[in-house]
Amino acid sequence: MNPAVETLVKGLEGRSPRTAMILGSGLGDLADTVQDAVSIPYEDLPGFPAGNVTGHSRRVVAGTIAEKPIMMLSGRVHYYEQGDAAAMRPVIEALSGIGIENLVLTNAAGSVDTAIEPGSVMQITDHINWSGMNPLMGEETDARFVDLSEVYDRELRSVFRQAADTASIPMAEGIYMWFSGPTFETPAEIRLSQTLGANAVGMSTVPEAILARFYGLRVAGFSVVTNMGAGMHSTTLSHDETKQMAPIGGEKLAKILTQAVSSGAL
Ligand code: HPA
Repeated sequence: MNPAVETLVKGLEGRSPRTAMILGSGLGDLADTVQDAVSIPYEDLPGFPAGNVTGHSRRVVAGTIAEKPIMMLSGRVHYYEQGDAAAMRPVIEALSGIGIENLVLTNAAGSVDTAIEPGSVMQITDHINWSGMNPLMGEETDARFVDLSEVYDRELRSVFRQAADTASIPMAEGIYMWFSGPTFETPAEIRLSQTLGANAVGMSTVPEAILARFYGLRVAGFSVVTNMGAGMHSTTLSHDETKQMAPIGGEKLAKILTQAVSSGAL
């Protein structure tokens, strides 16, 4: 059994959420809106990452929103930290081990689509794995041959579309392209991403989505757009800008997620 499961189950004190959300940049505050909450630090959970990107705290929070059960994870580890695409595997395995059925992944991203401006929220409909990496490399069972023809679950997508409409929050939809990071892309790479049909680019989420499908979880994904891709504007890109801009889209996404949980559809 995954070594974190026992501690998680104990820490949940009888709660049994079906949906977990991994909160990316700009969404950390959402965990504070959970009621009747227990908080379990990652450091108590074997295999959970001690990642140290500024702007991420590291804890599991479980409780309710509008009396509906929910679990949130603040803090993830990125491929670019140690070059390990499977770094989140113990976390996602543990979520599956405690009975989580739906995993909502969120991130900060650059838009490469002029119709999706900084401050927007984009629901991910599909992804392009440009990193060349895969978190299931090294997995030896035939279960590694995961079907990715619908990574981002159609039913969940429609739950979130309805939630966004009900909350009157504009929400774009599009394709997220995973670059390894930690550098931002070059303008030529951004043009390439446009040619290949991407709407946003970023450094996370795809390995977690693949792992979640491997463990049979339903996946939804969201980007909060913090900037236009390199070369699309005359400004230079920085992590400070990401942190500064993420709360703008983050506030909108928080409303969409809260509405979806409150609706009881998750
Ligand atoms: N590229 C990659 N990742 C990002 C970006 C970007 O422009 N903005 C925020 N995360």
